[in-house]
Amino acid sequence: MKVFEINKEIFKYSFGSPIDTSSVVVKGGTPVESKVMEHFEVSRGNSVMLKFAMDSKAAVYGLGENQRGMNKRGGLYHSYCSDDAVHTPDKKSLYGAHNFLLMDGPEHFGVFIDFPGRVIFDVGFKNKDILEITICGSNAEVYIVKGNNSRSIVRSFIRLVGASYVPPKWAFGYQQSRWGYADSEEIKALIGSFLYHDIPCDAIYLDIDYMENFKDFTINGNSFPEFSHFVSSIREKGYRLVPIIDAGVKIEKGYDIYEEGIEKGYFCKDGNKKPFVAAVWPGKVHFPDFLNSDARNWFGSKYKLLTDCGIEGFWNDMNEPAIFYSEKGLNCAIEKAKASEGKNLGVDDFFGLMDAFNGVSNSPEDYSSFYHDFDGTILEHDTVHNLYGFYMTKAAAEGLKAIDPGKRFLLFSRASCIGMHRYSGIWTGDNHSWWEHLLLNIKMMPSINMCGFLYCGADTGGFGGDVNSELLIRWMQFSIFTPLFRNHSALGTRRQEPFAFDEDTTGILRNVIRLRYVLMPYLYSEYMKAAIKGDMYFIPLSFEYGDEASKGAEDQLLLGDSIMLCPVYTENARGRYVWLPEDMLLWKAFDYEKREYEVVKMGHQYIEVGLAETPVFIKKNSILVIGRHARNIDSLDSRELQIIAFVEDKAEYELYDDDGCTYDYRKGAFSEINIMIEKREGTFAIEVRAKGDIRTKRLSFVIIDMNGKITESAINSSNFKSSGS
Ligand code: GLC
Repeated sequence: MKVFEINKEIFKYSFGSPIDTSSVVVKGGTPVESKVMEHFEVSRGNSVMLKFAMDSKAAVYGLGENQRGMNKRGGLYHSYCSDDAVHTPDKKSLYGAHNFLLMDGPEHFGVFIDFPGRVIFDVGFKNKDILEITICGSNAEVYIVKGNNSRSIVRSFIRLVGASYVPPKWAFGYQQSRWGYADSEEIKALIGSFLYHDIPCDAIYLDIDYMENFKDFTINGNSFPEFSHFVSSIREKGYRLVPIIDAGVKIEKGYDIYEEGIEKGYFCKDGNKKPFVAAVWPGKVHFPDFLNSDARNWFGSKYKLLTDCGIEGFWNDMNEPAIFYSEKGLNCAIEKAKASEGKNLGVDDFFGLMDAFNGVSNSPEDYSSFYHDFDGTILEHDTVHNLYGFYMTKAAAEGLKAIDPGKRFLLFSRASCIGMHRYSGIWTGDNHSWWEHLLLNIKMMPSINMCGFLYCGADTGGFGGDVNSELLIRWMQFSIFTPLFRNHSALGTRRQEPFAFDEDTTGILRNVIRLRYVLMPYLYSEYMKAAIKGDMYFIPLSFEYGDEASKGAEDQLLLGDSIMLCPVYTENARGRYVWLPEDMLLWKAFDYEKREYEVVKMGHQYIEVGLAETPVFIKKNSILVIGRHARNIDSLDSRELQIIAFVEDKAEYELYDDDGCTYDYRKGAFSEINIMIEKREGTFAIEVRAKGDIRTKRLSFVIIDMNGKITESAINSSNFKSSGS
């Protein structure tokens, strides 16, 4: 084991000869003479095992996209990107491999395992007080991150792995998706419904049906004739189309992507050095070898075929990679079935036969039978499995950068690994229309943020299964706060567009979706500040409040500096219990023009929440900035903004904005409005400072004091002081 000091907060422990996964951006470090790893007992063989005795009260956060609570204690997790559409609590892996964990106890630290294969995190599962991390290989890097508190540990970790991806501003709008929008006529009709119902929306998704026989970078000319023209006509109406790209390339003579990949040798190889064959949507496919930089550049350059048609965003899918079957795997099962034909099967034979078929997809045997050319080093897929989706998305991001270096494209992926957060966002895959999955969504968001991914969200309403209107309403009321806000559902399920139910539901959802646009000044500001500073957007209560109840609050979240969310996630509930670590101001948002506020005292409180209401708590001495709704992000008007402030003595807020479409913010091209409200001799003094290209002409203030007394006032931009003066 070699030890390096990366900086004051981070030490690296290196085992064997690890490959550079490119998960971290701060390389090197100063070698340190040490034989021990801080906090952990280390044992080595074919794998590296780390053991830590947890304090009985310590909480464990992190592990990104995963099952169970925000506090991961009690669970067994396998970090191995998995295509599994049934996210029940017993599942050990979902689509992401997010190997960062934060120990919040007397020993307070973060640990990141930079390893591209399977890592097992036993967080008090076998033994309730033991954390045991098994790295299934002998070449790995382990980083221990120190800090004064959980938030500062996360910030140090994000400095190590680099700043998060930033999408274009339009990608913060409401997005409508469904597997099964069959053709351009259906999409036009869908847009007609959004316009008719006067519901804002920014993007419509194209699932696999837009392609010709599920072939990447092709368009089905029958269902989507004159594609470029179609894209621009939709854009003129104010919407963007976002097509899916799958990892597997269909094997078909004459299909140019297939032919080129074969000719240049860009596909993963089997044990006989032949392109590995697997089957996904189009039947048999080859997998591009995204770990090879030439193959990556080649695949990335293909996105241009769609950007040339006016496309500005993509979702990368099936990139664990998902394998329906390999010929070998399927044949084994078929042989077993043939051998069983006509026989009187007892329990073992019958279930053995069932298992043979159930085990055909995504089998360990298949993942061990193909190889990557990692720029000269041949690696068995299983050993680098968690990099595949990451590198596919890196290919896309680099391709898009080459197409237009200054432009922010929308990009997110299903499979992921830490490091990919610099290139794109993620969605949490094939969840279900279950109340449990709304709660899981709530718990997962801060864990994902801790691992660097800021642009994230779940399939709102649930992907599999049939949603009812109440679940959709409650889910939307949470998703309006997630950076990616997309309603997506599976083929054959009940329709779940906001107007798919009764009129009352449509009315409620119209207001909920509008609220997303109303909240944009705050949400965008918080997202961008988190991205620029390398911080979180969703934060567990315990990161800010030290009390025991906050530590246990798994169904409430802080969002940025000013607000706390306590979504309703129970069917038929018209209220819920909330823990308030301090007095807060409650706005039950429904019609944002008619706002009412209530001061809720610190403690365990029951709040009533009608079906149409979205509860938003404004923290003490905090400010929420809102605007007005519009039909899409591009039409938002920020000339007049409303300030809702809950002030005991002094509140301050920095409102960030930028052009929303380029990276110029990195060169300082952004605006900031600094708002300060201070109680002085019984009245509130307001000071506003501004920097950059400010579009806001007027700020209207509603200041609520601790007794609920409201003071209103307004200030015009002519009275803004310039920053620094
Ligand atoms: C996968 C994706 C899902 C998509 C479907 C069809 O299941 O996770 O979002 O709709 O494939 O492409």
